[in-house]
Amino acid sequence: MIPREVVEEIVYRADIVDTIGSYVTLKRAGSNYGGLCPFHSEKTPSFTVFPATRSFYCFGCGAGGDVITFIKRVENLDYPSALEFLAERVGITIPQDRANERGELLNRKRIYEMNLEAAKFFRNCLFDPKLGQEGMQYLKSRQLSGATIKRFGLGVAPNSFGMLTDYMHSKGYSDEELIKGFLCGKSQKTGKSYDYFRGRVIFPIIDVSGNIIAFGGRVLDDTKPKYLNSSDTPGFKKSRNLFALNYAKDACSESLILCEGYMDVIALHAAGFSNAVATLGTAITSEQARIMAKYTKKVIISYDSDEAGQRAANRAMKLLEEVGLEVRVLKMNGAKDPDEYIKKFGSERFRQLLGQSKTGFEYKLENVLAKHDISIPQEKIKASEQLCDIIAGVTSSVEREVYIARVAESLSLTAEVIKNDVERRRSKEIRAQRRKESRDAMNSAKNYGDRINLDSAKNVAAASAEEAILGLLLIYEEHRTAVEKGKVDVCADDFFTAFGRRVFEEIMALQSTEKGFDFSLLDEKFNSDEIGRITRYKIGRHELRENGIDVLTSSVETLKKEKQRMSEKSGDDPFATIKRRQQNAADRKNKK
Ligand code: CTP
Ligand code: MN
Repeated sequence: MIPREVVEEIVYRADIVDTIGSYVTLKRAGSNYGGLCPFHSEKTPSFTVFPATRSFYCFGCGAGGDVITFIKRVENLDYPSALEFLAERVGITIPQDRANERGELLNRKRIYEMNLEAAKFFRNCLFDPKLGQEGMQYLKSRQLSGATIKRFGLGVAPNSFGMLTDYMHSKGYSDEELIKGFLCGKSQKTGKSYDYFRGRVIFPIIDVSGNIIAFGGRVLDDTKPKYLNSSDTPGFKKSRNLFALNYAKDACSESLILCEGYMDVIALHAAGFSNAVATLGTAITSEQARIMAKYTKKVIISYDSDEAGQRAANRAMKLLEEVGLEVRVLKMNGAKDPDEYIKKFGSERFRQLLGQSKTGFEYKLENVLAKHDISIPQEKIKASEQLCDIIAGVTSSVEREVYIARVAESLSLTAEVIKNDVERRRSKEIRAQRRKESRDAMNSAKNYGDRINLDSAKNVAAASAEEAILGLLLIYEEHRTAVEKGKVDVCADDFFTAFGRRVFEEIMALQSTEKGFDFSLLDEKFNSDEIGRITRYKIGRHELRENGIDVLTSSVETLKKEKQRMSEKSGDDPFATIKRRQQNAADRKNKK
């Protein structure tokens, strides 16, 4: 356990607006701040930060909590690691013996040190005449210069089960650490560790602060899988990092080039395009899009020219546009990816391609026109429908106007016809959206499909009384004291949902400790989804004007009444049961 004074100090110093503001662009709205939710994809902001209650809540997806919950979610960390992360940010040291006591051996720093040690090992192997011969030959066959190999810190993992493991043991790293850091796999039989990367060239993945956070390894031939990557660890989340951003960040004031592969990025950097980055073996995420938006204004998507690459480009375009980036798409002919293109046609031709890259809309327009022969009426109609759909999705009316003119021209139709079609689609879409919103609101009011509080749908009145009670207890010390001292008579058994009971118990358990209740301490007891729900109770209540003791008392009454009513109905009222038995006995007697 991290001492609670330390937890409180961390939460106090890690100002929630500052901390969240470094991940999400926040705009002031009254006494709160709003922005686009980092936990689900959205176009209009439903994510809110409440400085007064030091909490955040997304009205779209229900994510919520305090600054610790936010870091847990956004950095994919457990409770102690999130605290360590924040402690480092605000310059507080968590007492180390405590850290070891709770078995929290593997913090980020340790992983980074371990990775650095492993990277040195891989590099030494590559430059070893015997061990590295094949790997070096492979890299040379891909036309990488010595300087490029050094710059990217490339290495090779020998084809052996224990060389890295032995080396890392000699440097003081335990099996447990090596396994957790994805440098080793774990033998099912013996539980011992063995080298995870074998017979592969190694690409270290370096974050913008210069830490080696993970590795990718490529086979030297055509065996599968072609790439092996470290999985997410406390120090590394794939969806929040980009390959080579550590270099590209200094060369991207104009634009970033986004590729699919490590090798594409390396080839581009070697050819002088040091603003190239790649996602890490996964489709681009909205987090990565937001990271790019931090560093540049324009992204040129330069994916593989095959079907899969082009589909991926469409998805990337959408995510990048959503975060407000200007997007261009590069089209290559005669080569499957940027690496191959540069080798075949040289860097000058690639520079020309960059210059000719299409805007998102041009790219989509060309794709549609390429698929339909518009001299055939039926095909022309289809093309027009698809294009109107695309334009209808554009938010800016000026942009829509420009695209409408462009489509009218390409299809030889009047702008008016296209415009009518676009507007019809838009109002249809808006109506559907409104319907969906009111349906969602109704469903959540009825608590249908509630995964967090499963019982709440069984009695809406009782569930909302519970929410009121919990909200009041979460905010007001005086209400907690009133319950503790028995001035308001409510206990865990009065709660009718299992979740509500649990929340109540945890609040009151903390209340009875010497230092009393603190919201941050709930982060240790509940998962992030649950914390989101608890936050909803809190801010829902905070927004209401009447929060006095009489509201608490009357909510408790409602809850008790509803519970009573339900148990009578379901027949598990002990008195009702006894009465029924007596009645039955009397009936039997009468029959005799
Ligand atoms: N990738 C992966 N696992 C695989 C295949 C691909 O993680 N089994 C990821 C890698 O990050 C790779 C990227 O997807 O860099 C793109 O894949 P691909 O185009 O096949 O790889 P290239 O980098 O072009 O590799 P090469 O040119 O060496 O074939
Ligand atoms: Mn390739």
